[in-house]
Amino acid sequence: MPNGYISSLEEVVELRKRLDKDGKKLVLTNGAFDLLHVGHVRYLTEAAALGDSLVVAINGDESVRELKGPGRPINSAEERAEMLRALRCVDRVVVFEDRRASGVIEAIHPHIYTKGGDYTPDSLIDEEKQLLDRLGIEIRILSLVPGKSTSSTLAKMSEGDGRPKRVAILGSGTGSNARAILQAAADGKLGGEVALVLSDVADAGILKIASEFEVPAIAIDPGSKKGGHLTDAALKEIHDRLQAASIDLVALAGFMRIVREPLLSAYAGRMLNLHPSLLPKHPGLHACKKAIDAGDTESGCTIHLVDAGVDTGEILRQEKVPILRGDSPDELQARIQSKEHVAYPEVIAERLAEIQPC
Ligand code: GAR
Repeated sequence: MPNGYISSLEEVVELRKRLDKDGKKLVLTNGAFDLLHVGHVRYLTEAAALGDSLVVAINGDESVRELKGPGRPINSAEERAEMLRALRCVDRVVVFEDRRASGVIEAIHPHIYTKGGDYTPDSLIDEEKQLLDRLGIEIRILSLVPGKSTSSTLAKMSEGDGRPKRVAILGSGTGSNARAILQAAADGKLGGEVALVLSDVADAGILKIASEFEVPAIAIDPGSKKGGHLTDAALKEIHDRLQAASIDLVALAGFMRIVREPLLSAYAGRMLNLHPSLLPKHPGLHACKKAIDAGDTESGCTIHLVDAGVDTGEILRQEKVPILRGDSPDELQARIQSKEHVAYPEVIAERLAEIQPC
């Protein structure tokens, strides 16, 4: 959808060919660039200095909504492109609609691809990394300006708007992660409050922990559908309770059920899950046993957005642990959990800072 500020992919491919012929380099980066701040400007200036033309691929409006949650983007793709093109360092802006940048990277085939400093070459998703390696594209990770991010800008803007953001935790088990999240909230480190804990297991430890922290704790009858599925009635009850409690973000912590509509749409970009493996490896049940049986030498935890698949949503953070010779699944799980207890509250805090209250 080219406008005056948005270039078509074909134009950029032509630009790449021209630069190549003249022995010059095209630099590509991508992102939402929803609310320009000085961190973006310095990052883009640094990226442009690596080559001769900087192309910025921005996510289309629909994919920003999926990635960042309802209420985003704040600025439409056309407006974002207009702001970016006003920067001296930006030569072209293209829009891509996929959640992942692989398609646009493959089409443009830049000489250099840059990412912000919260990435390392290892944390690029496999699909992107393999593509970049296969095409021989140089990857450059650039440092970010501390304290200057879209999340911190939005957090500052929403300070003083009255109510703290509200988190619900859904879990089926012991609740050690729920405890870590509740403690982070009690210590003022979450950027919001835990307003509700729900479980599909009537006597789950997680409900007792919620009561310790004086947070409403409710058991939901999951119904008797087979294969870990909640009945439609159970899903509706969870949905209605979350809505009634004005929940802004849902954290699944050991919730051993598959989440379906109407929850997925109501909390798109606002529902996180924790999984004890380095996804996409070993999704589903018994992840620790699967990693040991596969002879893996490392495992870890993944925190990701929930989508319609089983453990398939956008990955927000991974933490690795070694698998030691003779480890039992329980020993591995305990090692992974020590990472989860630190990482999960941090990622929840980051996400809360990014979203607007519902
Ligand atoms: C956590 O280790 C989490 O990774 C895992 O359940 C545990 C819950 O522990 N989640 C899954 O297996 C999801 N498929 P907790 O109740 O002590 O927080």
